[in-house]
Amino acid sequence: MALVPYALTRPFLFGLDAEHAHELTLGSLARLQNTPAQCLWQQPRVDDPVTLAGLRFPNRVGLAAGLDKNGRCIDGLGAMGFGFIEVGTVTPKAQPGNPKPRIFRLPEADALINRLGFNNEGLDAFLANVRRARFRERGGILGLNIGKNAATPIERAADDYLIGLAGVYPHADYVTVNISSPNTQNLRSLQSDAALDALLGALQQRREQLAAEHGRRVPMFVKIAPDLDADQVGVIARTLQKNAVDGVIATNTTLARDAVQGLPHATEVGGLSGRPVAQASNRVIAQLRAALGAGYPIIGVGGVMSGADARAKRAAGADLVQLYTGLIYRGPALVTEVARALAG
Ligand code: FNR
Repeated sequence: MALVPYALTRPFLFGLDAEHAHELTLGSLARLQNTPAQCLWQQPRVDDPVTLAGLRFPNRVGLAAGLDKNGRCIDGLGAMGFGFIEVGTVTPKAQPGNPKPRIFRLPEADALINRLGFNNEGLDAFLANVRRARFRERGGILGLNIGKNAATPIERAADDYLIGLAGVYPHADYVTVNISSPNTQNLRSLQSDAALDALLGALQQRREQLAAEHGRRVPMFVKIAPDLDADQVGVIARTLQKNAVDGVIATNTTLARDAVQGLPHATEVGGLSGRPVAQASNRVIAQLRAALGAGYPIIGVGGVMSGADARAKRAAGADLVQLYTGLIYRGPALVTEVARALAG
């Protein structure tokens, strides 16, 4: 049981600008992780091991990418009981992202809108942080999520992903290729037929070389958007299998606003996350499962705010789940609730 109830922390954090609250929390976690103060938020990890893509996950709940973009707080976040943690998205070079404000809370909908735009300190700083983390030694699974710099033309996107893949490869349990952020111009065009095939073909070839160099085959996952129709999901599924991609993460944030119409901040530009994305995300998961068949690894993410939501993701076809916005609204107790709901 965490010693500080989130019900006490949340009103303070929600009184601050969303990005300021985020920075304050991450700064504290980074400073206090692996010290005796970690008992303030530490929770026992639910023991419910499952093997997927050749990896042994200690339980079925993970942290979604984007909360810890620079990998500063891997151990502090791990102490909340996650079976796996995904950090990034990291780009080859540091970049500032979009102008602030760029994260908005929609509390009436248990949602966020963000247009951060891959603000991060770049690959070298990221790897220095990842190397220091002890989460993997403690049995946790670490995913490293890669993207492209805003300044790199979309036609050269593969260059950035190849740099990212080679950089993170030796330090990752799995690598996620993020082609679904709505906040980097044209990024989502990489999800379409020929562009996806070309990108994944190049990455797959490079991965074979890296596997030989390092004597270890690191699974590669692709993260996709919820704003895709059934035909597009079908094409993606075929392209993943053709290029020996090991799994899919569904989904990223949505551009749709129907579920939040009329609420303050609903018209802000960016990706919507939390409760309003759950349904679209579950639909994509179900379409992926139908197209990919039993046994293909699917990680479900989008609007997991309770154990019941996580079970709905499992019912739709996900093997594991991740959460981000739920952690902001419910706090670390959600990790244990979800892990227990999925155990057994
Ligand atoms: C994200 N997400 C995200 N995903 C990713 O692959 N790379 C990233 O850098 C980010 N950044 C990011 C920032 C913020 C502020 C949010 C809210 C989200 C998407 C996230 O990992 C997840 O896919 C969606 O938010 C849906 O899950 P939740 O938040 O509804 O649990």
